[in-house]
Amino acid sequence: MRADLGFPKDFVFGVATSAYQIEGAAFEDGRIPSQWDTFSHTPGKTYRGETGDVACDHYHRYREDVELIAGLGVSSYRFSFAWPRVLTEERKPNQKGLDFYRRLLDELDKHQIRPAATLYHWDLPQWLSDRGGWANRDTVGYFTDYAELLLRTFGDRIPQWITHNEPWCASFLSYGIGAHAPGHQDWREAVMASHHILLSHGEVVKGYRGMGLKGQIGITLNLNVTDPRTDSEADKEAARRGDGFQNRWFLDPLFRGGYPDDMREIFRPYVQDYRFIHPDDEATIATPMDFLGVNYYNRAVVYNHPADTFLQMGHVIPPAETMTAMGWEVHPNSLYRLLKRVNRDYTRLPLYITENGAAYEDTVDAEGRVHDAKRRAFVEAHLEAARQFVEEGGTLKGYYLWSLMDNFEWGFGYSKRFGIVYVDFDTQQRILKDSALWYREVARSHRS
Ligand code: FCB
Repeated sequence: MRADLGFPKDFVFGVATSAYQIEGAAFEDGRIPSQWDTFSHTPGKTYRGETGDVACDHYHRYREDVELIAGLGVSSYRFSFAWPRVLTEERKPNQKGLDFYRRLLDELDKHQIRPAATLYHWDLPQWLSDRGGWANRDTVGYFTDYAELLLRTFGDRIPQWITHNEPWCASFLSYGIGAHAPGHQDWREAVMASHHILLSHGEVVKGYRGMGLKGQIGITLNLNVTDPRTDSEADKEAARRGDGFQNRWFLDPLFRGGYPDDMREIFRPYVQDYRFIHPDDEATIATPMDFLGVNYYNRAVVYNHPADTFLQMGHVIPPAETMTAMGWEVHPNSLYRLLKRVNRDYTRLPLYITENGAAYEDTVDAEGRVHDAKRRAFVEAHLEAARQFVEEGGTLKGYYLWSLMDNFEWGFGYSKRFGIVYVDFDTQQRILKDSALWYREVARSHRS
């Protein structure tokens, strides 16, 4: 088996998860409802009405799960804190919730696995969602209080902090398209949410700086490459709009001091005015951070489509044989192109791929094995693209595979399996898929 892929010795191999997708124990030890509890319990919102009530039962099985991570030989684990677990509605710390994360960190320490913690992976407390959620500027202050609690409690033992996971999803997909909680379809709210999320990121980075902690803080964006279907000016313009929507709306304020003008114009009819962007906000958002997290899954191929009332843009459906079970095109070279572009156009800060992976339809065979050759090939090809980028002087420092184990895939419930570890959701049995056995060789030979 060709295992050592030739990354520099300090390159980090990790696996990633998020709280609502794995923890379960949704009503235990003082956890309060989040917008994802409400959303998943609303008929018609998730596949077969599935919820994260139990998920992987990680809240009770974290010890064995950390052993699983350690067994993989990876050096780092990316997880997220559940806001509704650590703060009560009266905004008092919930000791039992904090204790859970303390125990989790103890286990990681024991196995010398470096934690990388996400503060917000979409499980907004329901009471805040009831007050407008991220469309309400007050949520910024509530988020900084929440962040401060965690930074004060765990700041000295977590070397890497991610303020937000995928602001695009937490705003546009959640308040505009409506596929994620809270499921609104209102582009004014969506644009406001994107701004408040970015603003809260900047505030937390500032706060972190003031605390004199030794770790690093950054944000994770879901970025793509948007290619035009043809060379026509119209399609190229459509691709520019798609890129603005997915990438530049977030990258420009973080690294260039402000939102892109063309996208401001496109959103203007929906937002009416931009009074919700206060004079100092963009400077706050651009507060220097330590690294950028990139989640990469696929590229988009788009064309000019006047009938689409929002961006006048249509998506080309990729050929079936190139798709994962999500219908996403497998396109590793676009990971390389994306990283190149980030380094060239935005920043030479350290980059981490904080998520990359694929859903395929896995089955357990008679011997209890899961032969997920396609997932392995997917990861291998993307690692190869990453390695090429590093070899050419790119600033990539690590790769977190999404995901450690099959889990609650948001609107798709348990129907999409992204894990390298198979989870039988009836028995909670975990089975290392072939991709995990391979990744273990990669991670182990890298470390040895
Ligand atoms: C990303 C999310 C992650 C997971 C993967 C498949 O958008 O951050 O939680 O759902 O997609």
